[in-house]
Amino acid sequence: MKKAQLFALAAASAITLAGVSCSDGSNSTKASDYDKEIESLLSQMTLDEKIGQLNQRTGVGLTDEMTGAIRAGSVGSLLNEVDPETVNALQREAVENSRLGIPLIFSRDVVHGFKTIYPIPLGQAATWNPALVEEGARVAADEASSVGIRWTFSPMLDVARDSRWGRIAEGFGEDPYLTSVLGEAMIRGYQTDDLSRPNTMAACAKHFAAYGFSENGKDYNSVWMPESRLRDVVLPPFKKAAESGAATFMCSFNEINDVPTNASSYLLRDILRDEWGWNGMMVSDWGSIMQMVPQGHCTDLRHAAAVASKAGVDMDMESYAYIQHLKDLVEKGEVSEKTIDGLVRNVLRLKYRLGLFDNPYVDLDSARRFYTEANLDGARRAAEESAVLLTNNGILPLKENVRRIAVTGPLMDAKHDQNGTWCFDMEKEHTVTALEALTEMYGKDRIIAAPGLTYSRSTDAAGIRRAAAEAAKADVILFFAGEEAVLSGEAHCRADISLPGAQTEMLRALKATGKPVVTVIMAGRALTIPEESKLSDAVLYVFHPGTMGGPAIANLLSGKVNPSGRLPLTMPRMTGQLPLYYAHNNTGRPASGIVLIDSLELEADQTSTGCTSFYLDAGDGPLFPFGHGLSYTTFKYGPVELSATEIAPDGSITASCEITNTGEREGSEVAQLYVRDLVGSMVRPVRELKAFEKITLAPGESRKVSFTLDGADLAYTNAENKKITEPGEFRLWISPDSQAGEAVSFTVK
Ligand code: GLC
Repeated sequence: MKKAQLFALAAASAITLAGVSCSDGSNSTKASDYDKEIESLLSQMTLDEKIGQLNQRTGVGLTDEMTGAIRAGSVGSLLNEVDPETVNALQREAVENSRLGIPLIFSRDVVHGFKTIYPIPLGQAATWNPALVEEGARVAADEASSVGIRWTFSPMLDVARDSRWGRIAEGFGEDPYLTSVLGEAMIRGYQTDDLSRPNTMAACAKHFAAYGFSENGKDYNSVWMPESRLRDVVLPPFKKAAESGAATFMCSFNEINDVPTNASSYLLRDILRDEWGWNGMMVSDWGSIMQMVPQGHCTDLRHAAAVASKAGVDMDMESYAYIQHLKDLVEKGEVSEKTIDGLVRNVLRLKYRLGLFDNPYVDLDSARRFYTEANLDGARRAAEESAVLLTNNGILPLKENVRRIAVTGPLMDAKHDQNGTWCFDMEKEHTVTALEALTEMYGKDRIIAAPGLTYSRSTDAAGIRRAAAEAAKADVILFFAGEEAVLSGEAHCRADISLPGAQTEMLRALKATGKPVVTVIMAGRALTIPEESKLSDAVLYVFHPGTMGGPAIANLLSGKVNPSGRLPLTMPRMTGQLPLYYAHNNTGRPASGIVLIDSLELEADQTSTGCTSFYLDAGDGPLFPFGHGLSYTTFKYGPVELSATEIAPDGSITASCEITNTGEREGSEVAQLYVRDLVGSMVRPVRELKAFEKITLAPGESRKVSFTLDGADLAYTNAENKKITEPGEFRLWISPDSQAGEAVSFTVK
């Protein structure tokens, strides 16, 4: 029996005699099934050992310093150690050579795959397929846990509406409902229904909260957010994560209304634990406790340690604030030991839930379970379903009789960049690129490989000329454009989200050959492609599709697979339109009678443009709306039928619609249900997504989709911070995207 269990056994008998109150600082209102073990262990721990559990450090192998710190009980968790033999050696120091034998928890950013890389989460969002997202998380957990990683810093649930922000790549896009559904699926995939299984990982709902609203799309920037928008747009995915049993949360770098989230007991305790009843473990972001000093909220690291521990940050990732200052703060009475106990309980509870006390070591006989056929198959299916066909003049799918295909552009054979951001453990030699897959599919003789630009930021005009000359010999040109992986992700924001480098010039040159051009875009965000979409005969947006992106793209372009992706974010015409999103307010002067800058007369009268809400140089509205995506078949939506035209605020209503595949081949469609509350004590958005269903229909097949909404689904947070469903008229759509469809009406009495 391991040391920790011996202590637990010995102390448990004492505890049952003495009885114990669990009223600690953690506001942990929900009893957990490990309270007895936790209390027995806690009663044995010195203050130093308690504080040690709150300290998360980067794994650096078996150095003397690290071994000494672990043996002293000064480390609760390690991140970024991914060698299973080293993991076991470090764990042995904790379990067998520290006084209480409390196991370490090993963590890593496994964001969209560990070795088998799935599409970036923004791409996975475009699948609108929770089962596929869950499957991808399961694959990631099985691969990562096989080297000892039992905690991932994923899913990122930050709703974001500004593609200048590089981290929009890591989330599920602009909509809180879609983010909630897919976040829950990812958590299920990581954790399954039994987190003590050795091939699971604790999920981490991050970044709590509102990080995706960093001002002007600049990372780590300030956030201004009224409570009503915080509760109705930012928090729903996190609330769903808490309800789904996400084992951990991570607080964010930003302030909300001038208060750092690491300092906000309102957010970390009142909402998360008291209102939502969550009793998991809250970790800081990397150095985010320390960052309250430059933020101007704390005078020094000692002050930051006091503020964060009282606010409810359980574990300190890489600030070393807790390990350096909490003991002194407790001894001087500035932080109570009761508060520390509350934080420690949450850490111990996580370790019990993960089964680490019983099963702390990696099974080396089944270590490194990577790249199985099933995993690669799943990654290919996810890449196929994440691709959004934005435009198509009929050039796709490529005709059987196409003889020669030119494969061009900086991302045609991009073993590294095809995987996108946040894939620390990716091995690029395993990536199957578009060029490789197309050559495999069509044969070397039919492929003309002519990159032109060798990376997305290149401005090599000579390369463009050479490529255009080569491409002119083909029957059809495929242009693989977009962003290198490093151009999105953390700290990688762009003030101009057009195609980098000379890619647009290259597309012009390819178009000038007179041959049809299909543009395939790999990117970590929405890019502004107004000219490019005009120059192209078709545009396929694949985000960063991961390890199996190549075969997926080949299957999609050839027609073996029918595209079914739908945009999880709005695509603007120009950067200046950002933030741009479908669920906007109508305003008192919605755009009408748009007059564009080039059509203005000289000395035009000031009121000649009609004084409504639009841009002279961009008009109004997106290039492609949220929910948009084409197929190789067509779908017809019948009229929406409602089960009632009136409901009580606590009633429910069922909306249904028959959808028919009116084309020649099987295809999948995402039926989206939107509502609009026409009049509210606070103005309401012109549309809000409330439900969706992805269905597959054979040619000619019809199916009725039905959705039932409760009155609560129509509620919003009013000016008094109350969630209410107000009486009045509502519009409802069941449509293929956020702009299409005929509305029907009903009334809440
Ligand atoms: C980073 C990120 C966070 C990540 C953590 C650990 O700064 O903000 O998402 O999980 O540090 O790498």
